[in-house]
Amino acid sequence: MQSIQIQQYGGPEVLQRVAVAVPQPASGCVLVKMAYSGINFMDIHTRQGKYAQSRTYPVRLPCTLGMEGSGEVVAVGEGVTTLAVGDRVAWCIVWGSYAQYAVVPAWQAVKVPASLSLEMAAAAVFHGFTAHYLAHDVAQLKPGMTCLVHAASGGIGQLLIQLATRAGAQVFATTSTPDKVRVAEQRGASLAVLYEGGRFVDVIRQATQGRGVDVVFDSIGLVTLRDSFRATRNRGLVINYGNVSGSVRDLDPLELGESGSLFLTRPRLADHLRSAQEIGRRAKDIFAALIDGSLQIHIAARYTLDQVEDAHEALELRQMVGKPILVLE
Ligand SMILES: NC(=O)c1ccc[n+]([C@@H]2O[C@H](COP(=O)([O-])OP(=O)(O)OC[C@H]3O[C@@H](n4cnc5c(N)ncnc54)[C@H](OP(=O)(O)O)[C@@H]3O)[C@@H](O)[C@H]2O)c1
Repeated sequence: MQSIQIQQYGGPEVLQRVAVAVPQPASGCVLVKMAYSGINFMDIHTRQGKYAQSRTYPVRLPCTLGMEGSGEVVAVGEGVTTLAVGDRVAWCIVWGSYAQYAVVPAWQAVKVPASLSLEMAAAAVFHGFTAHYLAHDVAQLKPGMTCLVHAASGGIGQLLIQLATRAGAQVFATTSTPDKVRVAEQRGASLAVLYEGGRFVDVIRQATQGRGVDVVFDSIGLVTLRDSFRATRNRGLVINYGNVSGSVRDLDPLELGESGSLFLTRPRLADHLRSAQEIGRRAKDIFAALIDGSLQIHIAARYTLDQVEDAHEALELRQMVGKPILVLE
């Protein structure tokens, strides 16, 4: 089978198309004939070596890239009782989805309802589950709350706006271009603005009568985190769930006090998908909302295995609006 591997960490040039044997499903796992893989920024962080020392996301070289996908079960390993050959499934946080076949632990795979396409399921799992736990478990958004979503036109950003709006919160959004501002507004942001080197804070403060928002969702990190503090209300919550611009490494906890006794958290998806029940609960919510049309995912672009390098470059150059997909069937 064909797969995309990295043998060393680095830029898009380290992505290699490699022919390998179709794997066998280990005990407790299923073998899936892949239909689609999602492409996301974490694949870029993985390729760059940012998880080389991670305990939550241990990556060992050589590694078949990609950590989310969908397809059809073609073989089951010993002890698997929840899935059978022919089932349509989707999953995330299992490496190896940039390939024609993948081995997936059965407890991490969810069945895809007949009325949902495998493409949409692949697009929904990683980003959908992330937006779900951030909005509902970490932020615990409720009617009357206010929040700010950075990188609002990105894969998770668009979903966060929609889930927050559905929960009854008022959503403010930031992004980098006027076109992306329009996308954030279309998804439901009541006010979307450009970052403008941190000047968005004044706009957000003004729009909240000087108070600041209850919650900030910050996936950008280094460039925005301290401005996120300034945009947050007294005793509010800053959720730094990504670091696309780099990590803040010089943060003194005193800064949180000086910013208004803020709460800062750096949560991870793996800690919010700890059992088949938890995965199933999030999948049920996200899939149902996609099927009834109350949640929309925009497929930003479709790529083949030969075009993965282009996909990574486009993500890094901030050209992607929505969710990029790798077509494998
Ligand atoms: N903690 C978790 O559980 C969790 C789970 C999933 C993903 N993540 C993290 O969330 C982040 C976003 O992932 P994603 O896949 O949804 O990506 P994405 O938001 O679709 O794409 C990244 C966006 O970030 C913005 N950006 C700002 N500064 C940037 C820079 N220096 N370089 C590149 N982009 C920049 C761009 O939007 P603008 O042009 O609008 O600024 C870009 O479109 C990643 O760090 C990922 O690892 C965390």
